[in-house]
Parts: sequence; structure tokens; C-alpha cells
Amino acid sequence: MGNISLNISKAFGFVSEEKVAAYESQVKACNEMLHNGSGKGNDFLGWLNLPSSITDAELSDIEETAHSLRSRCEIVVVIGIGGSYLGAKAVIDAFSNSFDWLQRDRINPVVVYAGQNIGEDYLYELTELLKDKQFGIINISKSGTTTEPALAFRILKKQLEDGVGKAEAKNRIVAITDESRGALRTLANQEGYKTFVIPDNVGGRYSVLTPVGLLPIAVAGIDIRQLVAGAVTMEAICGLDTPFAENPAAQYAAVRNELYKTGKKIEIMVNYHPKLHFVSEWWKQLYGESEGKENKGIFVAAVDFTTDLHSMGQMVQEGERTIFETVISVQSPNRRVDVPHDAADLDGLNFLVGKRVDEVNKMAELGTQIAHIDGGVPNLKIELPSLDEFYLGQLFYFFEKACGISGYILGVNPFDQPGVEAYKKNMFALLEKPGFEAETKAIKAKL
Ligand code: PA5
Repeated sequence: MGNISLNISKAFGFVSEEKVAAYESQVKACNEMLHNGSGKGNDFLGWLNLPSSITDAELSDIEETAHSLRSRCEIVVVIGIGGSYLGAKAVIDAFSNSFDWLQRDRINPVVVYAGQNIGEDYLYELTELLKDKQFGIINISKSGTTTEPALAFRILKKQLEDGVGKAEAKNRIVAITDESRGALRTLANQEGYKTFVIPDNVGGRYSVLTPVGLLPIAVAGIDIRQLVAGAVTMEAICGLDTPFAENPAAQYAAVRNELYKTGKKIEIMVNYHPKLHFVSEWWKQLYGESEGKENKGIFVAAVDFTTDLHSMGQMVQEGERTIFETVISVQSPNRRVDVPHDAADLDGLNFLVGKRVDEVNKMAELGTQIAHIDGGVPNLKIELPSLDEFYLGQLFYFFEKACGISGYILGVNPFDQPGVEAYKKNMFALLEKPGFEAETKAIKAKL
């Protein structure tokens, strides 16, 4: 079994190899700051050794709870926002059939999401869908006070209790939250729900390898042990003892900071595999929320190629030259489709007969890489031998470790998110929440 790999050679026409190599001592210092807890945000470093410290008993508890939900529910609603849902959604989408909804004879419950928006129509349609279904809820909130999931849970809890009664609803609700604090912990204790703890020292966007990600993933029938095993190997690969040139997290952190310094202020995460869309969404939260502070940080965006080559492709190729791209490339597809012969050949595609569809995709990828480099877009490439749990586990840990190092190089605290509070304060003031009287008055004066 190989490992995922990072290739930064196609950035060297834009930044020099020497300049990237010169980050070695700074990266080493940043990596040490993470491991000895001497840097900013050092009370949120629990993710660092999470893969290697998860016990067999913890995994079994998650698997047993998943089994209980799977046996009772056709649909499981995962309630959460940000780090409390993106990791689970990324993995579940990566390993689910693209036409999941239409699959007959399912063995896995359908996983749907709520609390990741405040869409009234969305919630209406969800409650309509659930009306004649056996459903359960995994309610995830580290703080236990986030408005979006709390609102969704209030609505769905009532619907579940009205439908199956309080006693059975209790068997179908699992809460994942802080060990002792917050409204969700109080509620879960009062109602007697099965609970899992999000460790104090693991922030939301670093929590995919805690029950936050692992329980919904296990409910969807995906192998959480392989996911963790992949992360364990990457934890070792990105460790303190690995030389700079062989440590992919160190290399990625260094090269993106050097690109940023030279004016490449936007990083687009690119995939050529539609199932990876939400891996990029997860990555966007990780890097955007970790680095975008103190009026600095690379702006992170994501595109799905070749789809978005027909929309954003123009901008990437010829827009302002402030972009670099990081491509997640999957070497081998899991399924095979060959291009068939067509006697009329009206579409002119007979030259592809006998080739696999993935060969066409790979040439689109290579052609795009060359065009982008020619057009002034540096290219970083992360290669996965195939799309499976083990390599996705590696990818998650690689990105987390690189993010911690990269944030420290930038000089920010990669583990807080003070800016997220600004909209919440205004929203509560506008909704006239008790305790916000002064803010209500002040904000109304601005309207
Ligand atoms: O990374 C973070 O900590 C945040 O983005 C959270 O994931 C998000 O705000 C959800 O918070 P909570 O799980 O407390 O409801």
C-alpha cells in the first residue's frame, strides 16, 4: 500500500526552489511549536495525536451506536454546521453512489443534513420528506449553542417525538458535544440521549477524526478503521523526525506561504473527481477559518474540473494573476467504463475507442496543468493512488498538519475563529434576543 504524495515542482517556475528550501528551519520551528505546545492556540492541539490515540474501545462504541441507528432508521439526519458536518459529508459523498437517492435495495440508511443553513424551504422539504419515514438524528455541536443546528434540532426533535413517542425517539437521537458545558450537553443529560464527547482541545474544523465525523461516517456503512489507519500513517510521515524534503505537510506549508509572498493571494482547490467536491468544502473551512485573520491569509476557493473549466476556467486561465492551484488527483478510478465504437462516428470520437473514460479525464488534467502554468498559474499536485478510506484518512491529516504549520508561518493563531462572532452578534441584536438590548439599539440606528 503506497501513500498519497505531493508534487510541488510545477510551482518552481514562479517561486525558486532555493526560496522554498529556505523555509526549512522556520517550518521545523513551527512543527516543534505544535508538538511542544508553545505556539498560539496551544489549548487546541488535541487533533495532533488524535489518529494514533483513538482506542479500539472508542471505535467499537461508535460502530455499535452506528449499528443501532442503522437498524432503526431509513434516514439519519446529521445536524451540524462548519466543522460539525463538513468532514462527515466529505467522506460520505466520496464513498456513496453518485445516484444514492435512487438506489433500491439499500443496505445503508440515507444520510441527510440539517442545521448547516437557516433555509426555511429546506427545512420544510426535509420535514415533509421525513413524514412517513423511520428516521433518527445525530445532533452535533461542540459549543452546544450554535443557532443553526439548535433551530433545526428543535424542529426535528419535535417531529420525531410526535411520530414515534418520546421513549423511542430517545433511542434514535445521539448527541455529540462538549463533555460538560453547553446547552446540548444539558439537554442530552436531561433527556438521557446516548452521547459522545468532542475533546476540549479539538476545534470544530479539526474534528473529523473524532465521533463528530466518525459516527455519521460509520452510519453510512463506511470503514472508519481504515480512515483512522490512513491518518495514523500520515501522522508518522508528517512527524518531527521526517526531514523537510520528505515531509509533505512541511513542503505544502512552505510553498504556499512563498507563493503568497509573491502575490499569489488566492488558492483554488481543484479536483477532477466529482465525489471530492465536499473534500474541497472541508478544506476551505480548515484553511479559511484558520488563516484568514489579522487582515491577512490566502483566500481559499474550490472548483470541480472539468465541470468548472466551462465556467471558472476562463478566469483561472486569463483573469488577474493572483491565483495558484492545488490539484487533488486520483490515480485509478474504482470502476471501469470504456469508450465504445460507433459506426457513424458523427461525434468524431472513434479515435478514443478502447480507451477508458479516465484516460480522457487524465489528459484533460494534464492539458489543463500545462495551460495554467503557461498562463501564469502555479500548480501543486496531491496524488491519491485511489479513492478509498485509507488515502482519504491520510489526506485529512496531511491538510490538518500543514494548516497548523502554515498558520504559524503566517504568524496567526490557526486554531481560533474570532471573526465568526461578528455576524452572530448582529443577528441576535436584530432578532432582539434578551441580553442584547444595547446592541439592538445600536444596530437599529444603522438601518
Ligand atoms: O471550526 C470551528 O470551530 C467552527 O467553524 C465550528 O465548526 C462551527 O461554528 C460549528 O460550531 P459548533 O460545533 O460549536 O456548533
